[in-house]
Amino acid sequence: MTTSGAVNRQIVLRSLIRGEPTREHFAQVETAVPEPAAGEMLVRNLYFSLEPAIRGWLEGKANYFPPVPIGGVIRGPTAGRIIRSNVVGFQVGELVFGLNRWEDYSLVRADTILLEKIHCEPGAPLSYHLGALGGSGQTAYVGLHEIGHVKPGQTVVVSAAAGAVGSVAGQIARLRGCKVIGIVGSAVKARLLTEQLGFHSAVNYRETLDLTVAVTAQAPEGVDVYFDNVGGATLNAMLPTLKPRGRIVACGMISDYNRSDAPYPITNLWQIVARQLTMQGFLLFTYDSLRPAARAQLAHWVRTGELTVLEDITRGLANTPSAFCKLMTGNTRGKALVEVDDATG
Ligand SMILES: NC(=O)c1ccc[n+]([C@@H]2O[C@H](COP(=O)([O-])OP(=O)(O)OC[C@H]3O[C@@H](n4cnc5c(N)ncnc54)[C@H](OP(=O)(O)O)[C@@H]3O)[C@@H](O)[C@H]2O)c1
Repeated sequence: MTTSGAVNRQIVLRSLIRGEPTREHFAQVETAVPEPAAGEMLVRNLYFSLEPAIRGWLEGKANYFPPVPIGGVIRGPTAGRIIRSNVVGFQVGELVFGLNRWEDYSLVRADTILLEKIHCEPGAPLSYHLGALGGSGQTAYVGLHEIGHVKPGQTVVVSAAAGAVGSVAGQIARLRGCKVIGIVGSAVKARLLTEQLGFHSAVNYRETLDLTVAVTAQAPEGVDVYFDNVGGATLNAMLPTLKPRGRIVACGMISDYNRSDAPYPITNLWQIVARQLTMQGFLLFTYDSLRPAARAQLAHWVRTGELTVLEDITRGLANTPSAFCKLMTGNTRGKALVEVDDATG
């Protein structure tokens, strides 16, 4: 593929975000396609993986990555094809995934965070390698096993359970022989969990007066592992439902991402002492050595039909800001992706 005459469309941050993101926080610009220097390759991005974590990089504050500055290209995981390579071991034509940017063409180095080659197989298209087989599925796998230490017969609760990570986490727990309860924000999502994903039951937190009571009704025996994607009010309500020595997998706290200046107060923290609970956070990119085995197991389950893959794909780079806003308002199911179109249309 040649890049002569091509432009590099990029989505940049127009203004720092407070509260919910809107399309006006973003702008599209066009720049020249960059030339890879020594140690770099040029990747034509084909998919963007939309992640709630990106929201935390858009308000001007450092968290575990530096903030994206105003005018900066939005950082996010992408998958694409190598079209030029000055990196040993990476050939033109190969597919790669890594933490790049929302743009047509990214310069990628061998030390790019999360960088891995993708090998598509029949039944597992490229998009699956950003979701169920990629970062989302691997997060679910590592979180449940390394942090949650799930065992057959246990009771597992997953929040944001119809989402990219949650839908896989719940299915893995079911495949490990656990009783699985999902917490979601709509009746449609609740039905999806029980009718298509094999969850034992689902609780719609938007139609529940008391989430602690609702979860306890589904799990009177107590919860062994709570896989927390949400934090805030949901975490607070879950604390009294756990068994003594129960475990909380702190995967994410999306309910506070749009209100980081005033996070929800956790008033039930004493339950961690009273019930001798363990709550542990983790970040997937620090568990690189576990990712190949996680991917292989997830791919096996997809092949055998035991793992159902949910995707929410938006087409067109220009629609990336709207797709991200949709993710951050709870209006997606499964993995939120953008399929990047060709700039020439
Ligand atoms: N630790 C890691 O390495 C790692 C890696 C990837 C992702 N994560 C975290 O995992 C979590 C899920 O990420 P994902 O990519 O799978 O996203 P996702 O679950 O596909 O999408 C977000 C979902 O979160 C729920 N949500 C949105 N706003 C909310 C709010 N204010 N209060 C409660 N729930 C809200 C919505 O579901 P409902 O309609 O059901 O509310 C929404 O559909 C996030 O917290 C993310 O940061 C962590």
